[in-house]
Amino acid sequence: MTEATLRALGAGATATAYAALCLAIYARRLRWRTAAAQEAAALTSDDRKPPTLVLFASQTGQAESIARQTARQLRAAGTSVRLLELNALDAATLASATRALFVVSTYGEGDAPDSASVFAEHLMGASSALPSLRYAVLALGDRQYKNFCGFGRALDTWLHATGARRDFECIEVDNSDPAALGAWHAQWGDAQVVQDDSADAFTPWRLTTRELLNAGSKGAPVFLLGFAPPAGTMPRWASGDLVQVAVASDPSRPRDYSIASLSTDTELQLLVRQEQHPDGTLGAASGLLTSTLTIGNTAALRLRPHRAFRLDGNEDRPLILVGNGTGLAGLRAHLRAREAAGRHDNWLVFGERQATHDFLCRAEIQAWQSSGVLQRLDMVFSRDQAERIYVQHRLLQSADVLRAWLDKGAAIYVCGSLQGMASGVDAALRQIAGDALWRDLTATGRYRRDVY
Ligand SMILES: Cc1cc2nc3c(=O)[nH]c(=O)nc-3n(C[C@H](O)[C@H](O)[C@H](O)COP(=O)(O)OP(=O)(O)OC[C@H]3O[C@@H](n4cnc5c(N)ncnc54)[C@H](O)[C@@H]3O)c2cc1C
Ligand SMILES: Cc1cc2nc3c(=O)[nH]c(=O)nc-3n(C[C@H](O)[C@H](O)[C@H](O)COP(=O)(O)O)c2cc1C
Repeated sequence: MTEATLRALGAGATATAYAALCLAIYARRLRWRTAAAQEAAALTSDDRKPPTLVLFASQTGQAESIARQTARQLRAAGTSVRLLELNALDAATLASATRALFVVSTYGEGDAPDSASVFAEHLMGASSALPSLRYAVLALGDRQYKNFCGFGRALDTWLHATGARRDFECIEVDNSDPAALGAWHAQWGDAQVVQDDSADAFTPWRLTTRELLNAGSKGAPVFLLGFAPPAGTMPRWASGDLVQVAVASDPSRPRDYSIASLSTDTELQLLVRQEQHPDGTLGAASGLLTSTLTIGNTAALRLRPHRAFRLDGNEDRPLILVGNGTGLAGLRAHLRAREAAGRHDNWLVFGERQATHDFLCRAEIQAWQSSGVLQRLDMVFSRDQAERIYVQHRLLQSADVLRAWLDKGAAIYVCGSLQGMASGVDAALRQIAGDALWRDLTATGRYRRDVY
């Protein structure tokens, strides 16, 4: 858990700000016609007994998918269920609940995922008594990170301190461990009902193009890759979605990549940075994609819906797109979608090292600028002047413009490095917008991130 998160957890909320936030969350839930809202509605048909709350906190969709499966299982066993993202949970609903199941992942350095950041500040930050609540926690994480299941553990500790009663000890899941997931599902009835709706199966996609985008760069090489679909038929995905690449040497850990193209394009494109380990060997997945896989040969890929980073619900808003490096991938897919939709109120703030070598996708970005698809463009090259300037600094310099865009209802999408870039952008946004608006942007889905 970072110091900032601990500070945040300790902060109390004023009743007015919290009521406004709940209203905003309610309004968002009304507006969104997402699969989550539809499924939640379908799962709350029995209003006579208090529903079991199935609550999730997810960054890239795994916890959300398991929560949906859990809700389906309970429903099949005749239990009335209400499925909610943690940021959409208000204090009154929690206080009146008698049973809640939490499925939560951990992000950053032991932190809550974005979809629980407001919950972590407001509900976990306040002292609560929940003596009538029975609960269980499924904590997703990865032991490669220092704070394994940090958020799940903090949540479990907080719930216990409220006087709520554990149905059983928190189940910790290391890297999707099937045994731990099986133990969770075994609690809720017929496990046959469970099916993985988070992703398709891996299928062989053919590498058709590979282009080095940053020749002469001081940074590691970045490639634009094009893949042709299996059987020639392009499957559907939405801008913002991810693709997973299977790695033969590390089969339990497929790697995620942000899709840089639309499913209406002729190929699936990725922007991949080649990782090199200190011993000179290449990263398992990035080495495969950028070096060992030859043109015409196939890699095992599967699409992964990334609902938390899609445009859903923000289609009619101005868009501020902020990112660095290969983060351009997710932003580029969104810009292509905006161009196709005829929406030109887009502002791109993109950071790299030097204009001469690192202006990734220069022709396309400049064409968007001249055709007006980009109403505003800030390319921020950190090493083109004596002092280092990054995207967060440009946002702070443009604070008035950013405020004006937010006043017009803009949504903000951030894609790229978590360390440095996304954390800096988050701090800048909080400083410019203020805490209350930052919370509102987060809880209502106007601020979304695909960061790694
Ligand atoms: C949501 C999401 C979206 C992403 N989108 C993109 C994207 O669009 N583009 C992109 O390029 N990346 C993206 N990534 C990152 C990507 O998934 C991979 O993490 C990245 O490509 C590195 O994977 P790898 O298999 O090449 O490296 P790995 O082999 O896994 O190495 C990664 C790290 O593991 C350690 N390590 C492993 N083996 C050794 C060794 N022998 N010696 C020393 N250290 C070692 C090192 O710390 C190294 O830096 C994304 C990640 C996420 C979570
Ligand atoms: C950038 C990043 C940071 C992460 N940080 C942690 C961490 O601090 N502790 C941990 O246990 N797992 C960490 N994880 C692993 C995720 O919690 C795990 O992959 C989880 O299954 C993701 O679930 P989700 O798709 O629902 O977000 C991290 C993953 C990523 C990509």
